[in-house]
Amino acid sequence: MKIAVASDHGGFALKEVIAKYLEENGYEVLNLGTYSEDSVDYPEYGKKCAEAVVSGEAERGIVVCGTGIGISIAANKVKGARCALCTSVHMAEMTRLHNDANMVALGGRTTDDELALEIVKTWLTTEFEGGRHQRRVDMLDNM
Ligand code: RB5
Repeated sequence: MKIAVASDHGGFALKEVIAKYLEENGYEVLNLGTYSEDSVDYPEYGKKCAEAVVSGEAERGIVVCGTGIGISIAANKVKGARCALCTSVHMAEMTRLHNDANMVALGGRTTDDELALEIVKTWLTTEFEGGRHQRRVDMLDNM
């Protein structure tokens, strides 16, 4: 599976940890930047990653900023992106089961590496439940 990853400076360190984890676990990684801790604007990176997912260039997307908030807002502006900001493994599981989230957002300054990797692992391995949730996901995509 090909995963696009992107972050601003506040999420750079965690994004790199996640990219390494993905590569070590057999995922193909499309690293869309940023590539250092120099200050950049998170809307640009949220948009870039969401566009890669929605266009099909990558199957899923992971975005990171300081809190995960700004970059998730940016990603969700792109039609077809369903980006869930997750701060727990339970949220990661539920957003796959019910929302078919094709992107996950994390906070580099709010979530430690160990928890972030558990969130990513759960989000990547949990299947969408479908059924009654499909109609709601369709509603989201048609907004
Ligand atoms: C950047 O300082 C910070 O505002 C950003 O990483 C993020 O937390 C925004 O939501």
